[in-house]
Amino acid sequence: MYQIYPRSFQDSNGDGIGDLQGIIDRLDYLNDGTTRSLGIDGIWLSPTFPSPMKDFGYDVSDYEGVHPEFGELATMDRLIAECHRRGIKLLLDYVPNHSSDQHPWFIESKSSRTNPKRDWYVWRDPVAGGPPNNWRAAFGGGAWQFDETTGQYYLHSFLVEQPDLNWRNPEVVEAMHDVLRFWFDRGIDGFRIDVVGMILKHPEFADNPLNPAWQAGDARHSKYLNAHVLNYPDVFPAVRGIRDVFDEYPDRMAVGEVFGTAEEISQFYGEGGLNGLHLAFNFQFISEHHNAVTTPWDAAILSRILSNAEAAIPSGGQPCYALANHDEPRFISRNNADGRGRERAAAAAIMLLGLRGTPFLYYGEEIGMIDGEIPEDRLRDPARFRTRGRDPERTPMQWDGNPGRGFSEAEPWLPYGPDDISVVSQEGDPGSLLELHRRGIWRRKLEPSLLRGSYNELDGMPMGVFAFERQAPGARPVTVVVNTSTEPRTVPLSSLVSRQGDRSRPCLFSFRMDYDSGITACGASTWIAPYRKALGTS
Ligand code: GLC
Ligand code: CA
Repeated sequence: MYQIYPRSFQDSNGDGIGDLQGIIDRLDYLNDGTTRSLGIDGIWLSPTFPSPMKDFGYDVSDYEGVHPEFGELATMDRLIAECHRRGIKLLLDYVPNHSSDQHPWFIESKSSRTNPKRDWYVWRDPVAGGPPNNWRAAFGGGAWQFDETTGQYYLHSFLVEQPDLNWRNPEVVEAMHDVLRFWFDRGIDGFRIDVVGMILKHPEFADNPLNPAWQAGDARHSKYLNAHVLNYPDVFPAVRGIRDVFDEYPDRMAVGEVFGTAEEISQFYGEGGLNGLHLAFNFQFISEHHNAVTTPWDAAILSRILSNAEAAIPSGGQPCYALANHDEPRFISRNNADGRGRERAAAAAIMLLGLRGTPFLYYGEEIGMIDGEIPEDRLRDPARFRTRGRDPERTPMQWDGNPGRGFSEAEPWLPYGPDDISVVSQEGDPGSLLELHRRGIWRRKLEPSLLRGSYNELDGMPMGVFAFERQAPGARPVTVVVNTSTEPRTVPLSSLVSRQGDRSRPCLFSFRMDYDSGITACGASTWIAPYRKALGTS
């Protein structure tokens, strides 16, 4: 799966903002049916709906339209058709927790206490002359906004301009289910679901408990645990309700943006019967705890994340990993303290493509885009006022090294990254990240063990090396070896086959980090044909 941030993929009409026609024009890059293309199977588009763009589309003012900057409904219909013609699935971004304050539902809701849509949002009386409780907004500040006209507060878990919908009201549930049907009827294959773990909170609006680990001087937003607003038990029946709508249509898929421990993530798959979301993101390669420090690139940590994930996920459930997205610093920028981020990105790509589960690739990661340096006067993300801004990871796709990067003829909405990182400069270079991704993605399709195989971590690895084996019944096993250290490591071949492995038909999907000459053996597979003979040697 490939995540596109629509404002930043391709501008087709010279306004400096990416759009749907631009995406259509670039579909062959993503998958033209040959190994010259990236070979992705599906796209997730960050929000494309009409929006005042306070949170760049995550503030939706009409769930059943297309923002004029991106195109029209007819353009979306063409994008769907063009994707399907190439065998690409298309997922939109469903934002159920909140709408824009400019959504007609909210405009009605706030017009009076007796408006029929009043209860479509979360309104509460002041308590002791102040907000109803201690809940905080994710972008900082309190989560309640006082409305002078009606004398009540409304809940906004994000920006003031993003009022939370009231999923305890059956009319809201029905209206939001109809949004899904609207797009399913147009041929959309599924949705990524925005902060789905927040759609139902504590019914009595109890204060969030104090975080016992918090100390004076720590960030204010971490003073309270979010126990009553995130992954509250009432969320799960609502998730099943959403799943039921997916099941009204054949072959539709839901992937949830969820946060928490491996156990919490696994709950979104449904209890026992896999009747929840088809996939729930595990973001722990980015950070192990929501809003915490980023995960270091380290074999022991990767091993821990994966064993927790594999232990928690219900049987039959498919894991789902991402190394980057539109909310977090880019992979290389997170892992570049010693200037070796690019090598780590290559290793990480092979790991991601080798793992059990559905990998999500954020646009530009395949060419190793780095966080943009955005001058103060060009910052756009409103979250920057209170938390770290997200503009650096949203800069335009770097198609070529020209001044407009092949993205636009006009001044782009965010400044461009360096001109030496681009699709054109990497195309055909076997040592490039782009070609590595192409080989890895197409290889994966050819290996039943990579698509459907079991996952077994291999032990006995040297310090800094993490290895696992994948095996589907009757198919040859595939071993993935990841050296997270900054030095060459020697791995005894005898440890590269698990006890369960079929020793007669081994194969190795490996790479070696070599900082002097670049990556010497990577990606598409280094077959060790005379493996048997080699067993026991290094
Ligand atoms: C999700 C989105 C993020 C957005 C927020 C509010 O975390 O990924 O971009 O700002 O929800 O919708
Ligand atoms: Ca445009």
